[in-house]
Amino acid sequence: MKVIKAANYDELSRKAAQIIASVVWNNPRSVLGLATGSTPIGTYKELVRMNKEGDLDFSQVTTVNLDEYAGLDPANDQSYRYFMNDNLFNHINIDKNNTHVPNGLAADLAAEGARYDAFIDSLGGTDIQLLGIGHDGHIGFNEPDDVFYKATHEVKLDAMTIKANARFFASEEQVPRRAITMGMWAIMQSKKILLIASGDDKRDIVERSINGPVTPKVPASILQCHRDVTVIYTY
Ligand code: F6R
Repeated sequence: MKVIKAANYDELSRKAAQIIASVVWNNPRSVLGLATGSTPIGTYKELVRMNKEGDLDFSQVTTVNLDEYAGLDPANDQSYRYFMNDNLFNHINIDKNNTHVPNGLAADLAAEGARYDAFIDSLGGTDIQLLGIGHDGHIGFNEPDDVFYKATHEVKLDAMTIKANARFFASEEQVPRRAITMGMWAIMQSKKILLIASGDDKRDIVERSINGPVTPKVPASILQCHRDVTVIYTY
């Protein structure tokens, strides 16, 4: 595991964007696993800048996102599809048909999970997976549990996650209680994993994830079992 301390959020964002860009420079047809949340916003801004300045071409890139709230229409400005369009896809030369987010409106979320995993498999997996980390150690929406879930699956969000995500909604009541998330298979099959964490409030969980025991009680600790993980943090 490579662990990099960034001086501040801007440096974290620049470094993360450079790592993603180098994957695309190496292979213009790369498959990128992407995340939402507040941490990657600066990284996406950097990728947009590189694209606008002609240094990074997304025309042949495919993306798959980690997760989506259940029951939110993609047009809803709180959906993760909306977030990705707004923060990245609308501003770069990517073909939107090549951008994929789990369908939170699917009537059968288990079937949607199986479809999503088969789709990722058909792409040959992701070349890089970008991750943020929750205060409880979640990656995607894989919350602390007794087991690591392998497949893309439906989850009930933890009280801590609902509280943390309430900042994006008008009130805590409006935060959806369920979501669909990539499981550990789709995350861990990625050739490269990049985890970014910003803020003093993430210090303890990042430390436990990279140096503590590998346990489903700290979902991000599973990353210790992957051969190519870079963690960039600032706090
Ligand atoms: C988002 C996701 C989550 C976030 C995590 C951290 O797609 O999968 O695991 O990465 O909740 O969120 P922020 O960056 O807002 O602290």
